Amino acid sequence: MKAISIGLLGLGTVGSGVVQIIENHQDKLMHQIGCPVMIKKILVKDENKERTVHIERELLTTNPDDILESPEIDIVIEVMGGVEETKNYLLKALQNRKHIVTANKDLMAVYGSELLSVATENGCDLFYEASVAGGIPILRGLVDGLASDRITKMMGIVNGTTNYILTKMSKQGSRYEDVLKEAQELGYAEADPTSDVGGWDAARKMAILATLGFSMNIDLDDVKVKGITEISEEDLSYSKKLGYTMKLIGIASRLENKVEVSVQPTLLPESHPLASVNDEYNAVYVYGEAVGETMFYGPGAGSLPTATAVVSDLVGVMKNMRLGVNGRSAVSPQFEKSLKQPGE
Ligand code: NDP
Ligand code: HSE
Repeated sequence: MKAISIGLLGLGTVGSGVVQIIENHQDKLMHQIGCPVMIKKILVKDENKERTVHIERELLTTNPDDILESPEIDIVIEVMGGVEETKNYLLKALQNRKHIVTANKDLMAVYGSELLSVATENGCDLFYEASVAGGIPILRGLVDGLASDRITKMMGIVNGTTNYILTKMSKQGSRYEDVLKEAQELGYAEADPTSDVGGWDAARKMAILATLGFSMNIDLDDVKVKGITEISEEDLSYSKKLGYTMKLIGIASRLENKVEVSVQPTLLPESHPLASVNDEYNAVYVYGEAVGETMFYGPGAGSLPTATAVVSDLVGVMKNMRLGVNGRSAVSPQFEKSLKQPGE
């Protein structure tokens, strides 16, 4: 029984969670896929950095080709972040017929269409469940669970960092700078948190959700974005006195012949279900013509929750490998189709 070999790009918040889940859930993985899973190499920036998980030193490398060009590696897990350089790494991996799992919404919101096409051309899977709403299986929910319905609206909290900040500022009167620092220490924020607090991280996630939910390519430039940087402690305390809660809300609506997507701070009455989604938790309402109202809820950021989505994608890839259906599974071609540019 040959083990499946993994190359991990990144060993930060999410990468460390992936290592832990693969180690701690080896029996469950064995049961699901029928063979052991081994991490063969891990790409990092700094081999000497202290790590939160125990890793044999010889597993670490700073040379991406040790993974991307290695004939021993079957699947690449990308949890390093970044866009241009990372895209080139993933293209190289796909050209070398390695399947990919990524948590990278910045990359998928911009280059998803191209990467998915290259994956299909090479008979590879490219799964990215963790890119939206951390541990919540929202992409599978949309693409598989609601495959028979026509989705007309999605609305939700899809950024854990800003939800954590707004929750702590409004419930505990914490200062913005202090609580942003906490969110960084807890591993919720991006390496550069500007995209979290500026609303761009949520915008990219809403673009991915709208693209998949409405089977239509959504250009990031068409998403209206306003972040939380101008929200003051006074704004939050007045809102509270008036019976409202401030949340950073993403909305995607399918109108007559177009789709509208926006992200902005929004006052919700305290009785609204999204008003009680606190800390790093995310929630997404999905309205379908037939199903009506559904809601997906769970941890939207953090090491183990996000790693759960990554390793579940890994299981999906490995099941496809066993069945010999990579690149034409029930999930990936549909993702690819819906992410194609108009006219392609
Ligand atoms: P971290 O900053 O914690 O970790 C990044 C890792 O990648 C580090 O191990 C770093 O190496 C390595 N790395 C970064 N750039 C390079 C490079 N150029 N060459 C080699 N190694 C590199 O990020 P996260 O784990 O928080 O996030 C990873 C990805 O997952 C991002 O795309 C993020 O958007 C996404 N994501 C994160 C979530 C979260 O809750 N944190 C949730 C959902 C998705 P070193 O350790 O040596 O510095
Ligand atoms: N920085 C992101 C967030 C990580 O706070 O939601 C999860 O994608």
